[in-house]
Amino acid sequence: MYVEWKEEYSVGVAKFDDGHKNLCGLINELHAGIIEGKGRDAQRSVLKGLVEYSMGHFSDEESLMKQYDYPERISHKLEHDEFRDKLLEFVEAYLKGTAPLTVDLLGYLVGWLEKHMTVTDKKYEAFFNSKGVM
Ligand SMILES: [Fe+2]
Repeated sequence: MYVEWKEEYSVGVAKFDDGHKNLCGLINELHAGIIEGKGRDAQRSVLKGLVEYSMGHFSDEESLMKQYDYPERISHKLEHDEFRDKLLEFVEAYLKGTAPLTVDLLGYLVGWLEKHMTVTDKKYEAFFNSKGVM
């Protein structure tokens, strides 16, 4: 499942938009890897990149929410936890060789990301912008 970042995904904070673009890019790279029949080692390094990058991105958002005492930060973090748990559970199984990387899994990640950007992240736009963060 390919995902193309578009303006309507903007959350009003440039560094988080950049983070989302990178996440889309990594998911697309995994998808391309499936189509091209890339080997496990190549996919593993992209997956590792996705794990590291998404963890860093979520924790950057969470730090900023904490710093400004964003009112919805607890429920926001719970959504990140869902993604983190799912991704880590999958990667663990993938590394053990008990789960293949499938388009279905990527579909889940893309669906989560699109909904998260357009609904949950979008909610912090006005809040952060009002604090001068954009
Ligand atoms: Fe978020």
